[in-house]
Amino acid sequence: MTNPHATRHQFDQVFVPSYQPASAIPVKGQGSRVWDQAGKEYIDFAGGIAVNALGHCHPALTDALAAQGNKLWHLSNVFTNEPAIRLATKLTAATFADKVYFANSGAEANEGAFKLARRYAMNKYGSQKSQIIAFKKGFHGRTFFTVSVGGQPAYSDGFGPKPGAIDHAIYNDLASLEALISDTTCAVVLEPIQGEGGIITPTLEFLQGVKALCQRHNALLIFDEVQTGVGRTGKLYGYMHTGVTPDILTTAKALGAGFPIAAMLTTTAIAKHLQPGTHGSTFGGNPLACAVAEAAFDIINQPHLLAGVTERETLFRQGLTRLANQYDVFTNVRGQGLLIGAQLAARYSGQARQLMTYAMDAGVMCLVAGADVVRFTPSLIIPKQDISEGLQRFEQAIQRWLAVQ
Ligand SMILES: Cc1ncc(COP(=O)(O)O)c(C=O)c1O
Repeated sequence: MTNPHATRHQFDQVFVPSYQPASAIPVKGQGSRVWDQAGKEYIDFAGGIAVNALGHCHPALTDALAAQGNKLWHLSNVFTNEPAIRLATKLTAATFADKVYFANSGAEANEGAFKLARRYAMNKYGSQKSQIIAFKKGFHGRTFFTVSVGGQPAYSDGFGPKPGAIDHAIYNDLASLEALISDTTCAVVLEPIQGEGGIITPTLEFLQGVKALCQRHNALLIFDEVQTGVGRTGKLYGYMHTGVTPDILTTAKALGAGFPIAAMLTTTAIAKHLQPGTHGSTFGGNPLACAVAEAAFDIINQPHLLAGVTERETLFRQGLTRLANQYDVFTNVRGQGLLIGAQLAARYSGQARQLMTYAMDAGVMCLVAGADVVRFTPSLIIPKQDISEGLQRFEQAIQRWLAVQ
């Protein structure tokens, strides 16, 4: 399986050094198992960072891709295409939204959402209504607008002047939002669970309070469901657990289940402010991406599949809680559905990445969310046997890691 022409050493020679990938190079995946160049097998609890909702090489997705690949690849938005129309119809039928704008990544969907919110407010109320309020530790992508809206200065500092009229409140702290919001606020944006910020779940009162403040000040409520969307939490979208409906929702990651696609969803009254020529993308709504996403959507948006996410959450929680108690390494296990975080005990502060490397050595892929949280975002249909075997490997990783403390 080894390909001498593509080595990890070469990566460092030819890549911009913005990533530091693991030393092994995966070459093959099937379901929730992955193999590297040396033939070593891993159980995949990372899911490509909450992307591979149906694991690797799901036959319905490879069939959809092959069928579309033999039919029509790309047109641009000078033309529409059948898979895009079908997917948009399904997304609107299943959610609060009436209209869809397709993009290629979460950041791009958010960029569209923020531009739409600004344009809507400007058209309806005047140009003074431009403030966007987001939350500290929030993450919305890496374009300059979205990273500036994100609440992690470490990601947005150091690139010169930032886009203006962006402020950050404290997540789960309604008073901090109340202190910032006014009639000049055009939008409040949040993740229904903060993912990159450490798997932080808001209270229902907080979400209801945010909605009420938005309504009082004619500000749009934007839910960034890039990580929480498409079944990840056990419902199609995270907002569906809460009864709090956003005005704009962004979705990416699991939407294409591994094929790059994203979407911004909204109502007709808001969407009409993006008239022809105001926003666009060459690749957004590409037929290959939409065909795969439609096949994934048909499988994921089923009651039995979504119920299976909650069953698997229970297995992860039980297993991780046992490890937390036995080894005293985690203070809590949190999240919803298959977006799970295990918080390291204070004495291991800053070592989540190191534990993740030990896990990789033990044959299980996981992620971090910040320096102190180990994150698990596996396939929504990961076999239960793979969960127990993966947790056994993770236990070995903990033992080896503790041995060097
Ligand atoms: C909540 C959230 N929004 C936006 C993004 C950015 O998505 P992308 O990397 O596809 O641009 C991410 C990625 O991790 C995310 O978790």
